[in-house]
Amino acid sequence: MLRQLSFKAGIDKIVLLSFTFAFSCLLFFSFYTYGRLEKRLALLAENASVHRDLFYVFLIMSASSGLLLITLFLIVHNSLSGKRKEVMEVFERVSDGFLSLDTNWIFTYVNSRAEQILNQPKGYLLGKNIWEYHTTATPAFYKACMEAMEKQRYRHLESIYKPSQRHFEVHIYPSPNGLSVYFTDITERKDAEQKVLKASRLYATISEVNKAIVYADSPEKLFRDICNVVVASGKFRMAWVGLIDKESRMVIPAYHAGHEEGYLSTVRISVDHVIEGLGPTGRAIREGRHYVCNDIGTDPAMAAWRQEALSRGYRSSIALPVIKSGEPFGSFSLYSHEENFFDGEEIQLLDEVVQDMSFALEAFDNEASLKAKEQEIQDMNGQLRDLASNLQNIREEERTYIAREIHDELGQQLTAIKLDAAWLDRKILEDGPIKQRVGHIISMLSNVIHSIRKIAMQLRPSVLDDLGLIEALKWQSRDFQNRYAIPIAFQYPDNPPVLAAASATGLFRIFQEALTNIARHAEATAITASLRVCGQQLVMTIADDGKGFDITAVKKKKTLGLLGMKERTLMMKGTYEITSQPGKGTNLSISIPLYTYNNLT
Ligand SMILES: Nc1ncnc2c1ncn2[C@@H]1O[C@H](COP(=O)(O)OP(=O)(O)O)[C@@H](O)[C@H]1O
Ligand SMILES: [Mg+2]
Repeated sequence: MLRQLSFKAGIDKIVLLSFTFAFSCLLFFSFYTYGRLEKRLALLAENASVHRDLFYVFLIMSASSGLLLITLFLIVHNSLSGKRKEVMEVFERVSDGFLSLDTNWIFTYVNSRAEQILNQPKGYLLGKNIWEYHTTATPAFYKACMEAMEKQRYRHLESIYKPSQRHFEVHIYPSPNGLSVYFTDITERKDAEQKVLKASRLYATISEVNKAIVYADSPEKLFRDICNVVVASGKFRMAWVGLIDKESRMVIPAYHAGHEEGYLSTVRISVDHVIEGLGPTGRAIREGRHYVCNDIGTDPAMAAWRQEALSRGYRSSIALPVIKSGEPFGSFSLYSHEENFFDGEEIQLLDEVVQDMSFALEAFDNEASLKAKEQEIQDMNGQLRDLASNLQNIREEERTYIAREIHDELGQQLTAIKLDAAWLDRKILEDGPIKQRVGHIISMLSNVIHSIRKIAMQLRPSVLDDLGLIEALKWQSRDFQNRYAIPIAFQYPDNPPVLAAASATGLFRIFQEALTNIARHAEATAITASLRVCGQQLVMTIADDGKGFDITAVKKKKTLGLLGMKERTLMMKGTYEITSQPGKGTNLSISIPLYTYNNLT
């Protein structure tokens, strides 16, 4: 539109110039012709009346030409002023600012909106140099004007007008006569954009804070991460967490992030109603709710800390109480470089953040007490296991002792009685009831001696102590095959490691219990067993092809055989594994670490 108007004004000027030129030619030509005619006619008729008539004729011609010119000039002038007025009215009507400058940067036109924006009447502005008047112009605006003027190129920018702190969208149209500058107030749009930006930044921060809360595994990590997150993601100038020292009743800064620059070492904050407790943090803790200070420069609560805070670029702040299990625990404070930064939405979200912090702190406490309880249970289990192990050892020792006493003492005495009975038998020469009785006693004594040996062996096979685990397992396998007629294929290493007595006994007893179970429950037709060294482990396996069982169902029966095997394995710091399925046999695997206390070497 601006270009169109200036184009039309250009045409009007050309028309006016053409008319002026045409009239000048006409006048000149009239005088010229009059001059020449006068000379010629003077020659022809030296009559004064003709002279005068001619003079009148040319006078009338000149006057009519003059009138014509004035009329034409007035027509063109009126039409030009009308156009100009029309254009001015258009510019006055628009709600955006418009001004024009000549090539010397002098205001040549300012519309009413521009008057308002620049806060000066046009009468004052017109004729003034823009750069003398507009000293607060932003570098971007200045640069754009210079470029538009020099390169005669249209420029467009968004700029802030500092005196009113309002944002404008500026269009600069150049022409050889100067610049037309057209500016629209976009402050509201900018404010809305800022709000959206602030809100989205805040939500992003809250989500980061929540992540930090979820991943934190200790209060230290929680506080450190939250301070870092709010500064990095929320663009806060500084954030810190203080913890209440119960004895001194002071808030001790514990973690911070951002531009702290020694600020926290300058502040002393009490939780009590004393001078040092009258600041935002002290109040927030005492009152159990946030304290917002939206202008650090004027808030009386910040009087004691104002200079230190302002010198570090803090303009507004919020202090939030951190509560644990209903008791004040500390504070969380955030500082912004903007005044009035904290409004309803931010405050609400930050309130939620400290609530989440409180939950997290309580969860840490619960977790810690749970862990302590778990540890206690583990310790108790360990003690019970040690006790059971001790009892097992005592039992084994007793068994060994009883087996030896039965075998050695009782067995020897019975053998002596048997020898005496045999002597008697030999001395009684006559066959009769007495000799028969003695013979009967001898055979009963033989059976008793055999039974006693068997009992002693079952109590504690002497082979285990005398020849070691492999021989004891071989003996046990033979005995089992003889008794139940189920073949056992037993594999063992040629050079077995020498085990501690307790480990050898433990493995032997597990082997015995496994075989007993097979005999009692499996209905097996074959058994494979092995003892082998795998790396640092000694592994014993016993597998049968019997009917198998459902392990989960059996666990509920609370029987002691399988449990005993497991316990014995754990006493040897080993691992126990049993696999079984109905119809598919049972596999038992025990693995104990070697070269610890399980062997002697
Ligand atoms: N080798 C096996 N074959 C089939 N069932 C078995 C085997 N070993 C154990 N079981 C099952 O596991 C149960 C638990 O065994 P255990 O704890 O030794 O107790 P118990 O032998 O006194 O019944 C047995 O009652 C039996 O049902
Ligand atoms: Mg059993």
